[in-house]
Amino acid sequence: MKTTLTTTLKSLVLAGAILSSSTLLANGAALYKNCAGCHGANGEKVALGKGKVIADMSEDELNKSMNGYLDGTYGGPMKGLMKGQLVKLSKDDISALSTHIVSLKK
Ligand code: HEC
Repeated sequence: MKTTLTTTLKSLVLAGAILSSSTLLANGAALYKNCAGCHGANGEKVALGKGKVIADMSEDELNKSMNGYLDGTYGGPMKGLMKGQLVKLSKDDISALSTHIVSLKK
């Protein structure tokens, strides 16, 4: 039941993506594969027991936190680790990731 619902929602999100920003979401999904190990396939985990559940954050909060890790204005005890995750990404990659993470919400 839960799986069916999730699958249905994902299909809807995908359908929406095709109509609007398909490349942005597709990129976000591909990039997010590198994050799922710590943050969970649906952004539902507290990564390494630290920080927030990213699936609960708004797109704006996600963008601000990730850009903040990069410019040193955001983060907790493990911010250095997160900066390392993001340092090779462009601003567009980061906004694609935020869009994707928000789309993971059930
Ligand atoms: C090796 C484990 C690991 C990986 C991989 C990882 N993260 Fe994180 N992430 C963390 C930890 C730990 C924190 C909390 C860091 C701190 O102390 O601020 C965090 C924090 C965050 C936050 C802010 C949450 C908060 O607490 O304010 C976001 C957003 C985030 N990560 C997104 C991502 C994205 C997107 C990726 C993939 C590009 C990624 N992370 C990859 C471990 C990881």
